[in-house]
Amino acid sequence: MVAHVGLISLSVAFPSMHCLPRLGFTKRRPFAMAALSDDPVQEWILTEGKATQITRISPVGGGCINLASRYDTDAGSFFVKTNRSIGPSMFEAEAIGLDAMYKTGTIRVPKPYKVGPLRNSGSYIIMEFIEFGASRSNQSVLGKKLAEMHKAGKSEKGFGFPVDNTVGSTPQINTWSSDWIQFYGEHRLGFQLKLARDQYGDSTIYQKGHRLIKNMAPLFEDIVIEPCLLHGDLWSGNITSDKDGEPVILDPACYYGHSEAEFGMSWCAGFGGSFYNAYFEVMPKQPGFEKRRDIYLLYHYLNHYNLFGSGYRSSAMSIIDDYLRMLNV
Ligand SMILES: *[C@@H]1O[C@H](CO)[C@@H](O)[C@H](O)[C@H]1NC(C)=O
Ligand SMILES: *[C@@H]1O[C@H](CO)[C@@H](O)[C@H](O)[C@H]1NC(C)=O
Ligand SMILES: *[C@@H]1O[C@H](CO)[C@@H](O)[C@H](O)[C@H]1NC(C)=O
Repeated sequence: MVAHVGLISLSVAFPSMHCLPRLGFTKRRPFAMAALSDDPVQEWILTEGKATQITRISPVGGGCINLASRYDTDAGSFFVKTNRSIGPSMFEAEAIGLDAMYKTGTIRVPKPYKVGPLRNSGSYIIMEFIEFGASRSNQSVLGKKLAEMHKAGKSEKGFGFPVDNTVGSTPQINTWSSDWIQFYGEHRLGFQLKLARDQYGDSTIYQKGHRLIKNMAPLFEDIVIEPCLLHGDLWSGNITSDKDGEPVILDPACYYGHSEAEFGMSWCAGFGGSFYNAYFEVMPKQPGFEKRRDIYLLYHYLNHYNLFGSGYRSSAMSIIDDYLRMLNV
């Protein structure tokens, strides 16, 4: 998931300004009038977005799955992602996740504005444009703000999320459950194990993985697990900072889960001591944290195995084997 694919065929994706419709009869808002008929993104920006003029559309690098652009207007800038080949449900799920995080009023995330279908096929999401800063965000501020989000993002329905979403491009099932061990076993580990069996015929990892799921309850003994709002895919590629150095997190795979599951991508996140110290000041470390660490990595290793192939299999397998030995099952 670290690969960044170059932007494809800019001339097709970003029609230059002189390709846009010529001035109409009325001198007032000609651009708006012409654009309204053919592009739902411009239509939204020029109506609900309160702009009267789009001054510039420029490509933005970073994300690897969708095309991203920045729209500068007389009402500020907007960030837009489009994908020509999928319906709006993926962006809808992203918007619901961003909105849930945004509403905690803790860590900075772009505010989502609008999701919809493109004219012929595909879909778009429009959100707040955040100007990123040059430097990495302060690790202790990041830890504190993330913990504040976990603390503030409460769920009345238990573990899950109002919609399914995707982690990388793998579906992530968020059916509500009141039982975390059941939820994590079925919808996280179990889902990935099934994918590995279906796609690679890997029945060894499937069977051993299920033996672990059936026997993992002792790892969660003596703690109360509250559903917390999680970003769900927190690695360095999805963490940045704004121009004031405030941490910003992007591209979530949100759900309500055990706070510790947020560290499942920590092998790709570069969290240091000052991050964890600040985090635990707000969300105290629970007994047994260390012995559960790897079971939360396991979900993401399995996902990488499913997305990128066998290079990740041995990491997943050795976590499973170590737990089976430790639990003596
Ligand atoms: C966030 O991570 C996902 C993969 O997990 C990736 O597809 C996406 O491009 C990342 N976002 C950015 C801004 O790099
Ligand atoms: C659109 O989404 C699909 C499915 O996630 C992805 O494979 C494809 O690369 C995306 N591309 C563009 C340019 O829209
Ligand atoms: C990070 O922020 C903390 C708390 O605001 C501050 O004490 C510390 O000096 C900062 N660290 C860096 C490297 O700027």
